Amino acid sequence: MVPVSGFCLGPHVITTPVLLAPMSGVTDAAMRRLASGMGAGLVVSEMVASDALLRGEQESRLRADGAGLDLHVVQLAGCNADWMASAAQFAVANGAAVIDINMGCPAKKVTGGWAGSALMRELDHAVRLIDAVASAVAVPVTVKMRLGWDHESINAPELARRAEQAGAQMITVHGRTRQQFYKGQADWSAIAAVKAEIGIPLIANGDILTLDDARQCLAQSGADGVMIGRAALGRAWLPGAIGEALSSGATTMAVPGPARRAELAIAHYQGLLTAMGIMAVRHARKHLAAYADDAAQGQAPDHIERFQETKAALLTSEDPDQVLHMLQELFDDTPANGWPSRIAAGIAA
Ligand SMILES: Cc1cc2nc3c(=O)[nH]c(=O)nc-3n(C[C@H](O)[C@H](O)[C@H](O)COP(=O)(O)O)c2cc1C
Repeated sequence: MVPVSGFCLGPHVITTPVLLAPMSGVTDAAMRRLASGMGAGLVVSEMVASDALLRGEQESRLRADGAGLDLHVVQLAGCNADWMASAAQFAVANGAAVIDINMGCPAKKVTGGWAGSALMRELDHAVRLIDAVASAVAVPVTVKMRLGWDHESINAPELARRAEQAGAQMITVHGRTRQQFYKGQADWSAIAAVKAEIGIPLIANGDILTLDDARQCLAQSGADGVMIGRAALGRAWLPGAIGEALSSGATTMAVPGPARRAELAIAHYQGLLTAMGIMAVRHARKHLAAYADDAAQGQAPDHIERFQETKAALLTSEDPDQVLHMLQELFDDTPANGWPSRIAAGIAA
């Protein structure tokens, strides 16, 4: 296979063309550190509301945390240009090396305030916002968007072109419209129209689960890299593993064995406890469910019931030591070759 090289983002050389997507409530600093350490090209914080960050709300500060990251990307959401610019300055003063602007979130509570993907309905305002942020900070500013608000208004190519003129240095496009939310399939070939409009790096996103998906997405979109979201839940190593295979031209990716996956799960949980204290017990549950599902990969059918019991216990335990113990146990029972899933094989379901 032809190796896929990385790209430059302003002064930063991104050696691996696979990025970890921002996911609210998921890509906490502990997960981003793991993904980055396992080779993801870039990892993006959960969306941080600019006004909440400026008010000093604890949750926003946690979301914008980048301790231990070499290249810290903070994603900001909002619709007020002054607040976005000030929040960007605050984030940079606290270690952000890149500011990403959210123009893709479909949630009603975000679009209702004319932020997220609602900005794709108001391109003049969207561009003013990018301009304000890019003028306020000396670090690269990037924009993440969808294809458009709906299929009647596909305007990602126009927004991307104008974003570059306003100072953006990288564009990510999730190949769905806002009206699709997460339904249907991401349209990777529709992202190609964005590539034709810009000279800055383009990242394609949506429904990439396997090495083969990543290769097909790159071929169909012409993008410089891909971004992985949901498939990395419980598998922070996945962007790095796919990235490494793309960079080397390998036909398969290296899946960490169960002992390494246990170490990663435990490090993640410990990282959450350090950052959040007892609040981590509840926050971690979506991750614990994903780790349990991952550990169950390849198990013989007569073992699955026991895994389900351990999973249920993991998701209800209030005792961090017990959780750490159960995480280790889960992976101790996972066979070393127990990963014949579609992700390892790169086979479409
Ligand atoms: C739980 C969840 C939270 C998300 N939060 C954000 C966010 O904070 N900012 C953002 O730009 N996109 C967010 N997204 C969208 C993802 O970044 C990504 O664009 C989308 O999930 C499609 O990629 P995937 O198919 O690889 O998951 C979120 C998605 C999910 C599932």
